Amino acid sequence: TKRVFSAFKPTGRLTLGNYLGAILPAVRLQDEADCVYAVADLHALTIRHDPGRLRARTREAATLLLACGLDRSGVYVQSRVPAHTELAYLLESTAHYGEMRRMIQFKEKSAGQREVRLSLLTYPALMAADILLHRADLVPVGEDQRQHVELTRDLALRFNHLYGETFTVPEAVHPRLAARVMDLAEPTAKMGKSDGSDAGTVHLLDEPADVRRKIMRAVTDSGTEVRHDPEAKPGVSNLLALLAACTGRPVESFSYASYGALKKDAAEAVTETLAPVRRRFGELSADPAELDRLLEGHAARAAERASEVVAAARRAMGLA
Ligand code: TYM
Repeated sequence: TKRVFSAFKPTGRLTLGNYLGAILPAVRLQDEADCVYAVADLHALTIRHDPGRLRARTREAATLLLACGLDRSGVYVQSRVPAHTELAYLLESTAHYGEMRRMIQFKEKSAGQREVRLSLLTYPALMAADILLHRADLVPVGEDQRQHVELTRDLALRFNHLYGETFTVPEAVHPRLAARVMDLAEPTAKMGKSDGSDAGTVHLLDEPADVRRKIMRAVTDSGTEVRHDPEAKPGVSNLLALLAACTGRPVESFSYASYGALKKDAAEAVTETLAPVRRRFGELSADPAELDRLLEGHAARAAERASEVVAAARRAMGLA
């Protein structure tokens, strides 16, 4: 069976973009593969952060991943497994400054900043470590992480070439429709946890009334025709993609006479999708001790699996 790994950075609250781009595909992969998922709290240290808020959001994200249906996988918190940072250093010693500096996300996030944390530059080496640590074959991610997974492949191949076969070379898997969910208020920008506008971002724990309002007020395009054409009609196409992804129906199966009718159905489909997540989140939150026990158990298992891979990498590189 194939191995699957993916992770979610608790820099903000999880969004509908995270859900449709990565969580839902991750839930589906559980039927056919050996899956492990993490809350990547170490990755949240790459930009200015508040310790108390990070702690709360890490917990919320872990609970949400379970509530979304990843409770059949080993969900854990990254920083509880020190092998991530150890392997990250070995991979930093495999990667080049130039390829890190060229990463699109590094360029975007560092542009115009006076103080850029060094970890923002080395971030993709840590992400590569996350993936290679689990010998993942498949990495379900949204479109924006494609370049980081490509780099992970390059690092794995380079390491294997320099020091002998050590790592499994992973592959990114993207959902067909919702690989890039757009901001509802600004449909040419990605819906994001921290960067997006509040009016344009649906958070998984938003009240249903707020979700409905955000979708009903979504920015649409000029004209009146409803068709899927992301170039010419980014707003309408985004709503159609949400509707199709939430209902599991092909985008061609929908036809509407007006934007209003499309919005109404999209709002309905999204609130219906999120209702069981909210309910399950409430149940899981009611028993914090049980949640801790679960996350710690999965962290221990991940650490066990990781130690074998890290030992192989250390040996291959000539460390004692
Ligand atoms: P992060 O935390 O920004 O996002 C988590 C996942 O959600 C996807 N995503 C989206 N998909 C579609 N539309 C959107 N608007 C949207 N916004 C976010 C992301 O592509 C991602 O799959 N570096 C990663 C976290 C990470 C990771 C890893 C991922 C750390 N280690 C190892 C995979 C494997 C990140 O910042 O994702």
